[in-house]
Amino acid sequence: MTLLHDHDLARAFDDASRSYDRLTALNPGYRTDLFRSARRLGLPDGGRGLRVLDLGCGTGASTRALLRAAPYARITAADASAGMLARARAKRWPPTVRFTHRPAEDLTAADGPYDAVFAAYLFRNVTRPGAVLETVRALLVPGGRLLVHEYTLSGSPLHRALWHAVCRGVVLPAGTLAGDRGLYRHLWRSVLDFDTAPVFAERIRGAGFRSVRTLPVAGWQTGIVHTFLARSGPGPAATETP
Ligand SMILES: C[S@@+](CC[C@H](N)C(=O)[O-])C[C@H]1O[C@@H](n2cnc3c(N)ncnc32)[C@H](O)[C@@H]1O
Repeated sequence: MTLLHDHDLARAFDDASRSYDRLTALNPGYRTDLFRSARRLGLPDGGRGLRVLDLGCGTGASTRALLRAAPYARITAADASAGMLARARAKRWPPTVRFTHRPAEDLTAADGPYDAVFAAYLFRNVTRPGAVLETVRALLVPGGRLLVHEYTLSGSPLHRALWHAVCRGVVLPAGTLAGDRGLYRHLWRSVLDFDTAPVFAERIRGAGFRSVRTLPVAGWQTGIVHTFLARSGPGPAATETP
């Protein structure tokens, strides 16, 4: 199967936006895991005085997690899909949260600086993840924080087999019922095609980040979803794997 890219992917997300919240609600832990990752950013003092970018914000589930973890931060939430953004904007937000219709590839350093960038389930979808990581680094203040929450298989055949089973048994049937089979086939295949967790951690380092750490996610996603934490700018390199 050919993976979806760029405009085709944004259109698929536009179409899927009407059922996105209902389908993710079927995934046990979807919102809890986002919140746990947002807390892993470790923003001090509830994010007071800090600017945070939610890249690939979708219908706002990751934005909500950020807001809960850092209620005083100024949050910009960006997405390439107008349909997903419309769903996000329709929800209730404080004035410290704003939404913008921007593909990650179009951002430049002039859109920053940010103290932290959060990207949940984005990088597997971008055509050139290394280039987007470099863009993100340019958006961050020196020592700024990157957190990526992403489907990245551990590399173990067991986790790969579990991902196939979950997709065949749940993801594809539910996506087909919702009328969005193409997008959920993309989800299945893109996870298999994307970096494993160790390879993605190396990719983050290759984009010039420091102190890269890979952390596991609990529940059935263990070995399937990981959190990656890193810092921009100079600092001691550190490595930690699950
Ligand atoms: C799987 S959804 C995740 C949404 C949200 N972060 C969450 O955790 O629920 C991925 C989102 O990334 C967006 N996206 C994909 N490629 C993008 C790109 N190149 N630039 C910006 N957004 C993109 C999609 O439109 C979609 O809304």
